[in-house]
Amino acid sequence: MGQPVNIGVVGCGAISAQYFQTIDRLPQLRLVAVADLDLDRAREAVAPYAGVDVVSVADLLADPRVDVVLNLTIPAAHAEVALQAIAAGKDVYCEKPLAATAEDAGRMLRAAGAAGVRVGCAPDTVLGTGTQTARKAIDDGLIGRPVAATATMLTPGHERWHPNPDFYYVPGGGPLLDMGPYYITSLVTLLGPVTTVIGAASRMRVKRTIGSGPRRGEDIPVTVDTHVTGVLVHDSGALSTLVMSFDGVATKAPNIEVHGETGSLVVPDPNRFDGSVQISRLGETGWHELPVSAGYAEGGRGVGLADFATTPAGREPRTGGSLAFHVLDVMESLLASAASGAAVTIASTCDRPEPVFLDPSDWQPGPS
Ligand SMILES: NC(=O)c1ccc[n+]([C@@H]2O[C@H](COP(=O)([O-])OP(=O)(O)OC[C@H]3O[C@@H](n4cnc5c(N)ncnc54)[C@H](O)[C@@H]3O)[C@@H](O)[C@H]2O)c1
Repeated sequence: MGQPVNIGVVGCGAISAQYFQTIDRLPQLRLVAVADLDLDRAREAVAPYAGVDVVSVADLLADPRVDVVLNLTIPAAHAEVALQAIAAGKDVYCEKPLAATAEDAGRMLRAAGAAGVRVGCAPDTVLGTGTQTARKAIDDGLIGRPVAATATMLTPGHERWHPNPDFYYVPGGGPLLDMGPYYITSLVTLLGPVTTVIGAASRMRVKRTIGSGPRRGEDIPVTVDTHVTGVLVHDSGALSTLVMSFDGVATKAPNIEVHGETGSLVVPDPNRFDGSVQISRLGETGWHELPVSAGYAEGGRGVGLADFATTPAGREPRTGGSLAFHVLDVMESLLASAASGAAVTIASTCDRPEPVFLDPSDWQPGPS
């Protein structure tokens, strides 16, 4: 392995600690600098790690050591920060969603193309053993031709635990744009790109109350739909039915099920790297667990950054911008369909990302 790829992080909030832990344990990555609008927060976030500079965003982007900017700001700031990084000639890897709107995300990708730099995006959980083992089962024909999937995410909302949950209830947030990237990236990984969507959506409350931290008890406005349902028509002909909700209490529905002509699969939580894949095959009784057969075994947020940063030039990383753009386009189109009552044709497409083989030393894309 060559020199580590140097990472500069913009945004040191709630999710940053998980990335810092992963970067710290992966030899192919090195954290060199961090920035945040709140420099004290940035200092506190990297206190456990020696030799990391805490600087302004401008200084981080001007630092010639930084190879990849890891953008962990809130969704509404993703495009602005990414465009600055691209203008500084840096590759950029964003937390999900790629941007608050597909228009902003398109601007990012066009700017990156013109500048000759790359854009990548979370979620990387789908590179873990859970989704990848399910994908291998489908690719190996264990359920026959896939015909349908269901995806269900339902909680009472993140304001119960996140100390600054405002961004979950404004454009760029909501259950679909916040949690949809996990589910739809998993569905595209399993079943391929989407050509048409039909959506319906509702909103239970116009305000939410923060449940933790210094702002506990404060009301925040809700300006997005908080229960979103829909059908995704995949290019393959398979149909996925989606429920993404911050308006329910609990569910016993599996996160994802995929149904094929000769078998059904229970796919684990796409917001986790691991989890049990269950199969029930035509002619057999009951369900049984499939052994882990694919995926990065030591998953943690940042694995997709390592995959992105080590993908050779000229190849699309598994966590590449075209997949993230397609997922955002699908989500935005679902909301547009919900608003208009009509089906929406998806203008974008992408390839299914390369599978991940079960080899902890395999950080490169698999053979084409
Ligand atoms: N919190 C989670 O559990 C979680 C999980 C997975 C993904 N994510 C994603 O990670 C991203 C960040 O989420 P979070 O929960 O860490 O948010 P957060 O609000 O806790 O942290 C965001 C940080 O970014 C900083 N920031 C905002 N705009 C900035 C700008 N223009 N320049 C520099 N710094 C800026 C803020 O000061 C803050 O410290 C979001 O895209 C979210 O969807 C969060």
